[in-house]
Amino acid sequence: MKSYAITLLPGDGVGPEVTYVAKEVLHAVAERFNRRFVFDTQAIGGAAIEASGAPLTQETLVSCRQADAVFLGAVGGPKWERSAQRPEAGLLELRKALGLFANIRPVRVYDELIDCSPLRRTIVAETDLVIFRELTGGSYFGEKRRTADRASDECVYTVGEIERIAHAAFTAARARRGKVTSVDKANVLETSRLWRETVTRLHAESYADVKLEHALVDSMAMQLIRQPRAFDVIVTENMFGDILSDEASVLGGSIGLAPSASLGAGQPGLFEPVHGSAPDIAGRDLCNPIGAVLSVALLLRYGLKLREEADAVDSAVERALRAGARTADLGGDIGCRAMGDLIVDQVLRSDAFTHCAHAHWG
Ligand code: IPM
Ligand code: MG
Repeated sequence: MKSYAITLLPGDGVGPEVTYVAKEVLHAVAERFNRRFVFDTQAIGGAAIEASGAPLTQETLVSCRQADAVFLGAVGGPKWERSAQRPEAGLLELRKALGLFANIRPVRVYDELIDCSPLRRTIVAETDLVIFRELTGGSYFGEKRRTADRASDECVYTVGEIERIAHAAFTAARARRGKVTSVDKANVLETSRLWRETVTRLHAESYADVKLEHALVDSMAMQLIRQPRAFDVIVTENMFGDILSDEASVLGGSIGLAPSASLGAGQPGLFEPVHGSAPDIAGRDLCNPIGAVLSVALLLRYGLKLREEADAVDSAVERALRAGARTADLGGDIGCRAMGDLIVDQVLRSDAFTHCAHAHWG
């Protein structure tokens, strides 16, 4: 039997709790679909700083490179806020080392959870969008300078970097509702002007069948909560994507529900919930594992190309929610593990006919 190597990086805060559930769900998938997953758990972020003095070690990087897919819980926390070594640097280094330039963040609104959203039902109903965030360029990776009274973070983009994320977004739009919104700040920033020119040219050359619109990031921040249904695929640079994806996650009712996939060209993908380390609730079995479980579905779908298994996990989450399971962020009182157990039960009980339709984005 073919076996799939999966590196698990629990990290910090609630990271280990959601990674535990992610692994349980993968065990259930293995049992139900007769698959073999081989796990290797490695340190990253603050946990790695404590264990070895650096947020990303050679050992972790080698394990990730050899894996078929990588799952990450979360990194960061108040403990390392003033330390010279930052946990976040481990994640950034890993994204760069694996060449993961496309960060895919789907946002959907479950009908069952619609009243968890701070926005009105009439605004959020039927929202189904996906953000394609460029992940290895921009001010995150430009030269950083610092003197006592001056600091700068250089923001750089090349045509090649813009083209490859735009390709991914246009291709995804073709398999969805055929619309791309490219977000920039072209009225002010030179990188944004290059971004807009490049996306416009690529569209005319190769994707004229896709509808393309451009939006300025400030206006986009407003439109995203004013009329989220207007969007299908959103493509943007690293920092704007970071901000807009947190904003978009409230549409569905909780950031605890939001999954992500980071993909490159050929390298193993990295799959992680969007929520981060949530130090205020860490270690208390309070967090929502659904963002992690939906990231497992993305791992199966895009990392391992196991489509039926991915559908089963998506559908298990839906059925657990339909049955009324709610963690604290959704106004309920069941814990992270109990929510995980309910989803695991649903995976084990899934059959080919209970799979629901799901959106494609790549
Ligand atoms: C995210 C996070 C990271 C980022 C941090 C932890 C470095 O906010 O994945 O959105 O800014 O990319
Ligand atoms: Mg973020």
